[in-house]
Amino acid sequence: MADLRTRYLGMELRSPLVASSSPLTGTLDGLRRLEAAGAGAVVLPSLFEEELAEQGREGPPAGAGPADRAGYGAGPAAYLSLVTQARRELSIPVIASLNGASRGGWSAYATRLEAAGAHALELNIYYVSSRPGLSGGDVEWHYLDVVRAVRRATSLPLAVKLSPYFSSLVNLAGQLVESGTNGLVLFNRFYQPDLDIEALEVLPALELSTSVDLRLPLRWIAILHRRHRVSLAASTGVHTAGDVLKVLLAGADVAMMTSALLRHGPDHLRPLEVQVRDWMDRHGYQTLDQLRGRLSQRSVPDPAAFERANYIKTLASQSSSRLHLGP
Ligand SMILES: Cc1cc2nc3c(=O)[nH]c(=O)nc-3n(C[C@H](O)[C@H](O)[C@H](O)COP(=O)(O)O)c2cc1C
Repeated sequence: MADLRTRYLGMELRSPLVASSSPLTGTLDGLRRLEAAGAGAVVLPSLFEEELAEQGREGPPAGAGPADRAGYGAGPAAYLSLVTQARRELSIPVIASLNGASRGGWSAYATRLEAAGAHALELNIYYVSSRPGLSGGDVEWHYLDVVRAVRRATSLPLAVKLSPYFSSLVNLAGQLVESGTNGLVLFNRFYQPDLDIEALEVLPALELSTSVDLRLPLRWIAILHRRHRVSLAASTGVHTAGDVLKVLLAGADVAMMTSALLRHGPDHLRPLEVQVRDWMDRHGYQTLDQLRGRLSQRSVPDPAAFERANYIKTLASQSSSRLHLGP
């Protein structure tokens, strides 16, 4: 039977199927179900910088301590408690997540998450700049500054969850690695507010992904594979066994899932695992190392397929066949 073991952030995982940060990973029960269904690791919901700031002002929330749910405003005490319980009860790696935009109290919390038993830390640096005076370089410097501060505070393996909106992602990835990043999670799905044209209001909008959304991480994982000494996690648009295989062939170490698990429940992982193994058996692969990166930019005969060069060819073939452009 094909061996699904993989390495991520220096840890050995029994499977590349990882549950990314979401409400599903915010309870011990949810975590147990994900482990039972075959998850190789779990990423807890984020502890948000805003929660740390509130706790700083008001002290621990009433009744904090062991809580049913962590993340999304439950506060730092509930979060630390979930980390401790998860570490005690699960045999798969538990990755804690911090979400914010400034150095803030993160460094102190990185130390506390380490003490609570987290195996690794994911930093979701969610920064949307609307300041005209801030250049792209300034924004990148800010990311690196946050990573360096957290790196100084903890020896835990560190992953950074990025947005796709950087002008030179491969360069930034290299700088993040130099600053102490061990893994890149590509990508965070930015919450994009909508507008209500009747009430004239801004609407919160959080939509689940589909497999079509996989293309963006797929391209960048293929480009980043073996460019730097860093683990690569695909996040956004992984729904099917085919999607998992695509990101592995592009060069990912793990395939992270949220939308698919929210839609179908944790047991969705079971058939995926079977189907990935079946595919490997049919294609003569015994281990993931044998197939990882087989379709990365460095391995394909036409590396330009991942860059601009194929653009005109693609447009030309589409317009002559399926698309009806114009009136
Ligand atoms: C309801 C919901 C809650 C989420 N909460 C977090 C979070 O707390 N921290 C985080 O880094 N990402 C969070 N995410 C993003 C997911 O971890 C994931 O990166 C994103 O949904 C893209 O993956 P997918 O296509 O498999 O859904 C959340 C996503 C959803 C849908």
